[in-house]
Amino acid sequence: MTSLSNQRWVLAKRPVGEPADDCFALQEVPVADLEEGQVRIEAHYLSLDPYMRGRMREGKSYAEPLKIGEVVTGESAGIVVESRSDRWAVGDALTAHQGWQTQIVADGDSPALLRADTALAPLQAWLGVLGMPGRTGFFGLQRVGLPQAGETLVVSAASGAVGSVVGQLGKILGLRVVGVAGGPEKCSYCRDELGFDACIDYKAGGLTEQLADACPQGVDVYFENVGGAVTRAVAGLFNPGARVPICGFVSLYNAEGDMAAMETPFTVLGGLETSPEHRFFLVGEWRDEWLEASAQLAGWIASGQLKYRETIAEGFACAPAAFRGLLAGKNFGKQLVHIAG
Ligand SMILES: NC(=O)c1ccc[n+]([C@@H]2O[C@H](COP(=O)([O-])OP(=O)(O)OC[C@H]3O[C@@H](n4cnc5c(N)ncnc54)[C@H](OP(=O)(O)O)[C@@H]3O)[C@@H](O)[C@H]2O)c1
Repeated sequence: MTSLSNQRWVLAKRPVGEPADDCFALQEVPVADLEEGQVRIEAHYLSLDPYMRGRMREGKSYAEPLKIGEVVTGESAGIVVESRSDRWAVGDALTAHQGWQTQIVADGDSPALLRADTALAPLQAWLGVLGMPGRTGFFGLQRVGLPQAGETLVVSAASGAVGSVVGQLGKILGLRVVGVAGGPEKCSYCRDELGFDACIDYKAGGLTEQLADACPQGVDVYFENVGGAVTRAVAGLFNPGARVPICGFVSLYNAEGDMAAMETPFTVLGGLETSPEHRFFLVGEWRDEWLEASAQLAGWIASGQLKYRETIAEGFACAPAAFRGLLAGKNFGKQLVHIAG
């Protein structure tokens, strides 16, 4: 056993509504010596993502729920600090889907470890614009949204990690892009810095009218990130043949009770007289193409066509509070926790 210790957040109890501090427990455990084939990674950044809330619920969704006492699901970006694997050398930068912990010991061959090319972008960008959220926008819009130049795209949680990529990709592909975001600052960022044609503040009132004004030709693609009032407002604007990639519905994640009994985007869209094509997708559907997607996204960053923003909470100890903030829209762009480095 080394003298090193690993800090990790485990699920202490299932949240009811917003995940309170006592739903999480911070543990300090010794780091085991490496076995043949293993690596030790020092985590520099932890990614916080809305899907983690789903893992804290009882009952199966597309993934098994976390057990009480288990390390909270998540991905971090870090550096290999010790290696007994042929695949990794000390100093290599990578992302590791190994939960909320500071010192990660993993099998070097694990598919949960992915190389992060820091020549293309800073390490933490591999958790955001070049990583899982960026790829989600990339594939969800193109493979499920099937966008055509000249069409109108509406994207919710527009200034966020996924939404900001979706909207900018929509502009690259020649669409009219209308964002929906919470608050004037996020909306002006989408319009003035990211180049969206319009962005509606759903907290300002008159959402249905404002959206209709911003979409005079109707809506051809709605990239669904939030559900709730935004979905209901877009629902009246679909053109024949419209498509809705259902990426997530963050407005319901903290809701209490049985998700199956709630009004989800599936109930709203499926209940329309002329229902748009809609389906839930997972970024993992295109896992074989992830590296190409990241390379393409990096190319657009280099050419100035893709911008991104991050909110970085300082210190591993604040992960639960930053996670609550993410679900409440306090983040502005990709939510990260800085741990070391
Ligand atoms: N299917 C997949 O493979 C996949 C992969 C990654 C992410 N996702 C989904 O993509 C969505 C966006 O994720 P992200 O990582 O990019 O997070 P994000 O947009 O960076 O952050 C979440 C945002 O959700 C918005 N929000 C929170 N409560 C809301 C409410 N009641 N109504 C409307 N908006 C609300 C907030 O933005 P505002 O301040 O603008 O309200 C908040 O900033 C989530 O639904 C997530 O589950 C799916």
